[in-house]
Formats: sequence, structure tokens, C-alpha cells
Amino acid sequence: MRKMLIAGNWKMNFTPSNAVGFVNSIKSNIDTAKRDVVLCVPYVALQPVKDALKGTNIQVGAQNVHYMDDGAYTGEISPAMLNEMKVPYVIIGHSERREKFGESDTTVNLRALRALKHGLSPIICVGESQKQRLANRTEDVLRKQVAFALDEVKDERAEKVVIAYEPIWAIGTGMTATTKQAEDACAFIRILLIERFGAPTAEKIRILYGGSVTPTNAAELFSQPNIDGGLVGGASTAPTFDQVVKAGLCCE
Ligand code: 13P
Repeated sequence: MRKMLIAGNWKMNFTPSNAVGFVNSIKSNIDTAKRDVVLCVPYVALQPVKDALKGTNIQVGAQNVHYMDDGAYTGEISPAMLNEMKVPYVIIGHSERREKFGESDTTVNLRALRALKHGLSPIICVGESQKQRLANRTEDVLRKQVAFALDEVKDERAEKVVIAYEPIWAIGTGMTATTKQAEDACAFIRILLIERFGAPTAEKIRILYGGSVTPTNAAELFSQPNIDGGLVGGASTAPTFDQVVKAGLCCE
């Protein structure tokens, strides 16, 4: 049985003090029973938010990480740094990074491998564009992205991997994938994971849906057999985030 994971992706929102004010206002409403709740916040808010969440079971995550341990990489953050800060999760390969910052399947893989080496759980984002969906290429795109991302990932580390299926056309658009579209894609990803790691391991890997998740549509999406929670953008920065988290218990 996979434990539900509800991950918020704040993207580039909230100054550190605003971040603390926000988590202080929502934390007592967030029900973490039988599910994992993670807030992926900007680097500069990691420690303040972590401090503000002390005494709760809400965890923090980063939104990216570099693929080297240290060195001349101005502006970058390494997995060793996140590990020392006891940050357990990191988003890797978000479509915004792929589109706007030149992230490639190769660097997604390098980041995932390095994150795993340092004991972090990479939340690896995959998903097709609208053009690719309309051309019936969704499965081809997912097959390629998943294969690249997981290249050389050791079987014994695979359970730490989280895959987030985020169709690009659904991100920040209000155009949520239908429940069937989301489940079909996540079920396909499960097949890819079974091919890669074998069924016993693949059945333990969590697959999230992301793209215009709201308190209204979350419960139905999260009730699907292959959707193990959500990667939530806009709705994770709203006071009603607790309602999205609540929906994460529908499959118990
Ligand atoms: P929205 O929930 O705002 O559509 O963003 C989804 C996302 O990009 C999460 O990583």
C-alpha cells in the first residue's frame, strides 16, 4: 500500500517572512494522518519554514538541485547541502525548468541520481505539451522522459523516487486533466516502472498528478488507483490548501 503524498510547489512565491506567516496560518488545519505532506518552497525559505513547521509532520522540499556535490557552479545548490539541512524531498525536471531554464532529460537524470545518492527523494516531473497530446504522442513522451530520468537508478534506491505526471497544458491554466486522462497517464507510467524495476518495486513508487489541482477536483483525482497524491502549484499557496490535503485520504 502506497502512502499518499501531497506536495505543494510554491514556485517563486512568498518572501521568507511571508512564507512563515503563511505556514503559521495554515499548519494547524493540515491533517497529516496517514499521508505525507510536503511544502516545496524557495531555497531562502527552507530553514524559516522548517523552523515554523517544528512540532508538525509537515515536511519541506526544495524545487531544484544541482547534480554535483560542490564546485564552481555559481548560484547552484547541491544535494549535500539539502541533505545537511534535512530537506527530504526535491522537485526535479519541472516543465518550467525544462522550458525556461534549458533543463534536459540528461540533466534531469544527473540531478535525480545525485539526489538519490545523498538520500533525498526526487520528485521527478514528466508530462506532455498540448501539441504532443493532440498528436497522440503522450505515451511516447512519457516513455522517453521516464526512461532517461531513471537511467542507472539502482533498484535499491528506486522506492525513494516519486514521479509527478504534470501535463504541461494543465499547469496554471485551470484546464485540469480529466480524471481518466490523469489515471491513464499514471497507469502507463506504472507500466514503465514495472518494466524498469519489476512489479514489487514499481508498486511501491508513488506517482503524483499535477496541473490545476484544486480543493474541488482533488478527491476524485486522488481516488484513482495509480494516482498517489498531487503536486500542487497555485492551490498550495492558498489558505484552502488544507482542503486539498484532506482529499489525500480518499483511498485509505
Ligand atoms: P498549478 O497547480 O498551479 O497548475 O501548478 C502545477 C505545478 O506546476 C506543480 O508543480
